[in-house]
Amino acid sequence: MKTAIVLALPLLLTTVSSQTFHWGPCPTPMVQPNFELPKYLGKWYEIEKLPASFEKGTCIEANYSLRPDKTIKVLNVQKYKGKVRTIEGTAIVQDLREPAKLGVSFSYFTPYSPYWVLSTDYNTVALVYSCTDVLRLFHVDYAWILSRTRTLLPETVYHAKEIFARDNIDVSKMVPTDQHGCEGGP
Ligand SMILES: *[C@@H]1O[C@H](CO)[C@@H](O)[C@H](O)[C@H]1NC(C)=O
Repeated sequence: MKTAIVLALPLLLTTVSSQTFHWGPCPTPMVQPNFELPKYLGKWYEIEKLPASFEKGTCIEANYSLRPDKTIKVLNVQKYKGKVRTIEGTAIVQDLREPAKLGVSFSYFTPYSPYWVLSTDYNTVALVYSCTDVLRLFHVDYAWILSRTRTLLPETVYHAKEIFARDNIDVSKMVPTDQHGCEGGP
């Protein structure tokens, strides 16, 4: 019976969402050393991602800014079925000793999800990873390649995927985000 549940669960998850799950616990990638949040703030455009069911649109971008209470305001914007949709969330640094490991939440009722900045040069590209263990049996993860502009050089994307892969993150299911026909874009 137990085995049946264990086997059925991932199947169920794949059916109900397009999220990416893998057997075993989350990988433990290196994060950006000496992460400097102030330099990371501002606007980032999504170039590629491991699909998240809550992000179906195009022209996806996020603007991170500091609130007076030092939490980070996350303003996600995307275009979906011709309409521009904006969602506001909150990010926090959960442990000051690990500043590149943020947590992000889009509602008072949901816990903070990991938002780890694996690598960034602050003014071109950022690699973000989020992984959650489920029942210690498997993990669900998301990954994003973000850019300060709506397009990124193919070699930069290639290099970003190499970094993810080096940390045992499966990039084979990464898909480009459509940034065509967006405000100020190509
Ligand atoms: C990002 O959000 C902040 C705070 O709301 C705002 O002041 C700033 O102009 C925004 N930046 C961009 C590039 O839209």
